[in-house]
Amino acid sequence: MKLNIKINGKPKDFDVAPNTLLLNLVRDDMDLTGTKYGCGIGECGACTVHMDGLAVLACMVLAVDADGHEVDTIEGLSDGTELHPIQQSYLDEGAVQCGFCTPGFIMSTKALLEETPSPSEREIREYLNGNLCRCTGYVNIVKAVQAAAEQMK
Ligand code: FES
Ligand code: FES
Repeated sequence: MKLNIKINGKPKDFDVAPNTLLLNLVRDDMDLTGTKYGCGIGECGACTVHMDGLAVLACMVLAVDADGHEVDTIEGLSDGTELHPIQQSYLDEGAVQCGFCTPGFIMSTKALLEETPSPSEREIREYLNGNLCRCTGYVNIVKAVQAAAEQMK
């Protein structure tokens, strides 16, 4: 099937099988491997990207459903070599250990802060409860979101 998807601001044509997942299109066809393949069944959040500004799980979206839409991945966040404030906060607060979950957390954080610029700790924990981390214990992730919210005010 022929598709056109704007990825990280650039429109691109694709020719894919009907059952291709958005996750595979991003990782395999675009080589945007920052988006991670974790569980593949919508449970871990590692594959979180934005579609038309909303956080979606790329393992649960068919590529054909992204036809004509805008998809943003973690690679689109930085401005050249300048990290996005959310990325910098995750680094500064030690919210990254193995890093496998981090792109998904950061994309979810961006969606959260666009909806709720000054979230409470409870709102942060509730919003990010679809993102699983095996390493950090979440405390520093919450601190990173709070620090990013401060910087982005
Ligand atoms: S890989 Fe998509 S939710 Fe786990
Ligand atoms: S930093 Fe390792 S899974 Fe989250």
